[in-house]
Amino acid sequence: MSLRPPDFEFVRDLVWRESAIVLGNEKDYLVKARLTSLARVQGFGSLERFMYEVRNSPSSDLRFRVVEAMTTNETSFFRDSVPFDVLREHLLPKLIQERQAERRLRIWSAGCSSGQELYSVAMLIDRHFPELGNWEVELLGTDISAEMIKRAKQATYTPLEIARGLGDDYRKYLVAAGRGFQIADTIRRRPRFLQLNLVEDWPDMGVFDVILLRNVLIYFDVAHKAAVLSKTQQRLRPGGYLFLGGTETTLNLHCGFQRVLADSANCYQLREAT
Ligand SMILES: C[S@@+](CC[C@H](N)C(=O)[O-])C[C@H]1O[C@@H](n2cnc3c(N)ncnc32)[C@H](O)[C@@H]1O
Repeated sequence: MSLRPPDFEFVRDLVWRESAIVLGNEKDYLVKARLTSLARVQGFGSLERFMYEVRNSPSSDLRFRVVEAMTTNETSFFRDSVPFDVLREHLLPKLIQERQAERRLRIWSAGCSSGQELYSVAMLIDRHFPELGNWEVELLGTDISAEMIKRAKQATYTPLEIARGLGDDYRKYLVAAGRGFQIADTIRRRPRFLQLNLVEDWPDMGVFDVILLRNVLIYFDVAHKAAVLSKTQQRLRPGGYLFLGGTETTLNLHCGFQRVLADSANCYQLREAT
C-alpha cells in the first residue's frame, strides 16, 4: 500500500488542526504504517480506497480515528521514576500538611494514555500515605484518544507492560486476568477517566494540587504548547505542582511558572507575583 503525497498532506493538516500534533515530513513512514493498519481494521482493501473515504466521507468518526491513530501512546508505570520519588518524599507530605483543614487532594494526569501514570500515583498513595484513607483524594485521567481511555478504565496490562516499571513492592496491587494482569479493584475504582482534547475548550474542572502533563506537549507546535500551558496555569492551585516530561520545558513558552526542586523532576509551581 502506498500513501500519495496529497494524502499525507491531508492527514498532516487534519491531525494538526484537530489535536495540535505536528507530523513533519520525516514522519511519512510512521503515518503510512499507522494508516495502513487502520485501513485494514476498518475493512478497506487498499490505503488509496481508505484515504478516498476519509477525504470524502462526511463522517467525522473516521477522521477522528485517523487523528487517534496518529497519537503516540508510549507510557509505563512510574515512568522516569524521579517525579514519583519527589511526590513521595517531598510534595505529598507537604501538601498533606498544607491541606489538613480541608482534607482534600486533586491530581490530574493530562494525556494519561492507557492509565499507567495515574495508577502509579494511586498505588503510591495507597502504599505510602495510609493517612489519606479518610481524605477525599480525586484522581482524574484524560486523553484525546477514546481507545486509550477505554484501556485506562479496563486497567488490564500485559506482562511486558507490567515489567516496565512496576516493582515487586507494587505487585500486590495486581490480579491475574487472562494472559496478563488487571489492577486490583481497590485501586482501579479510584481514578476517573475522561476523553478530553487539550486544544479544545476544557470543561470547568476546578483546580488541581498536582498536574502531570508529561510527554504530551512535546508533540505540539509552539503556539499550542503555550496555549495549553496558559490553560494549565488556570487549573493549577496556588501551592500546587505541575510536572512536565523529561525533555519538556515552559521556557520561552510561558512565564507563569517557575521551576522548583531538582531539574530531573521537571516540576513547576505558579510564579509568585512580583
Ligand atoms: C506519550 S503519551 C504520554 C503518557 C503519559 N503522560 C506518560 O508520560 O507516560 C502522550 C499522550 O498524549 C495524548 N494526546 C496527544 N494529543 C493530545 C491532545 N490534543 N489532547 C489530549 N491528549 C493528547 C496521546 O493520545 C497520548 O496518549
